Amino acid sequence: MLKAAKRLMTPSARSDVPPFMVMDVMAAAARIEAAGGRVIHMEVGQPAAPAPSCALAAARAALAGPLRYTETLGVPSLRARIARHYQERYGVSVDAARVIVTTGSSGGFVLAFLALFEPGDRVAVAVPGYPPYRHILKALGCEAVPIETTAATRFAITADLLLAAHRRAPLRGVLIASPANPTGTMMTGDTLRELHAAAEREGIRFISDEIYHGLDYAFAADTAVRLSEDAVIINSFSKYFCMTGWRIGWMVVPEPLVRTIDRLQGNLSISVPTLAQVAAEAAFDGREEMEAVKHGYEENRRILIDGLPKAGLERMLPVDGAFYLYADVSRFSSDSFDFAKRMLEETHVAATPGVDFDPVNGRHFIRFCYAGSAAEMHEAVERIGRWLGSK
Ligand SMILES: Cc1ncc(COP(=O)(O)O)c(C=O)c1O
Repeated sequence: MLKAAKRLMTPSARSDVPPFMVMDVMAAAARIEAAGGRVIHMEVGQPAAPAPSCALAAARAALAGPLRYTETLGVPSLRARIARHYQERYGVSVDAARVIVTTGSSGGFVLAFLALFEPGDRVAVAVPGYPPYRHILKALGCEAVPIETTAATRFAITADLLLAAHRRAPLRGVLIASPANPTGTMMTGDTLRELHAAAEREGIRFISDEIYHGLDYAFAADTAVRLSEDAVIINSFSKYFCMTGWRIGWMVVPEPLVRTIDRLQGNLSISVPTLAQVAAEAAFDGREEMEAVKHGYEENRRILIDGLPKAGLERMLPVDGAFYLYADVSRFSSDSFDFAKRMLEETHVAATPGVDFDPVNGRHFIRFCYAGSAAEMHEAVERIGRWLGSK
């Protein structure tokens, strides 16, 4: 009887996706803190700052009224505000009818993959890259095709790399992010345009994750909205607007997909949390506050670019955008998981091992998130310098 029940409870093969190893680092950091240690958290990719104060005020006011379901595609005034954002920030006109509000960009991936791909379809993703791309695709029965990237292409998928993979076995889609996680690198405008043109020529569907837009330091990130009305754009209030826990994002999709995604989202979740939608609309008025937060990241970036090489970590990827620095630790270890674990235990600085993002070369890298305070950055550099100096 027990045996039969156990057999019934066997999880599906497609649900067998790997966990995020950073969770182990977080659990170890929590144990150190419970024992009275003071950990500098540079492992989780989220801003330390709260949402803009105008967003918080709007949410507080909304709590007084009923919070009902909204239209499945999002509150119309928020969709219109997001469309206006494209005019203001990039000078491109977007029809609000193509804007869809989602439960974070994470919700956007599920909708985009369901709307664009059939089970078995092959979708190119960059390695190193954000692991849930691969894992969500797998859970939906699609195949993530890892495209190994190198310094020569600023860790971006190029048209040549895409076409080479497509020749080996046909691709149905490609997903890019610029600025990227974990590398913090950005695609140049030319690379983006050439990649998009190659994908369009070959009938490969193009998805652009623009979650780190607004957090660009090396040069201005451009939106794929400009390239074609057929590109699927995924974005979020999590990073620039410091709203990770509000779980709200958006997509800009080709007009023929709007009704499809409306039906999908309506069935999967009815609508996106109403309180978060109210706060998100107001957040656009908090840009001044968010620019101050961004200047803080710029200062943190400067402290790390200057300090980490002196501390012993000389080699890092170009620190173009987002709030990540991907550092090469191969001088000290060929097992970044073990390196991150020992660094945490011995210096109380938490970072994420690269193997989370790249099962092969990631063993030589760790990712630092620099979304904390400048004082923490200085202290982290000093602790790491003392530790590596003693090696
Ligand atoms: C590249 C990238 N895309 C998407 C996400 C998901 O973010 P959210 O669901 O909070 O919008 C993250 C989170 O860290 C990320 O780094």
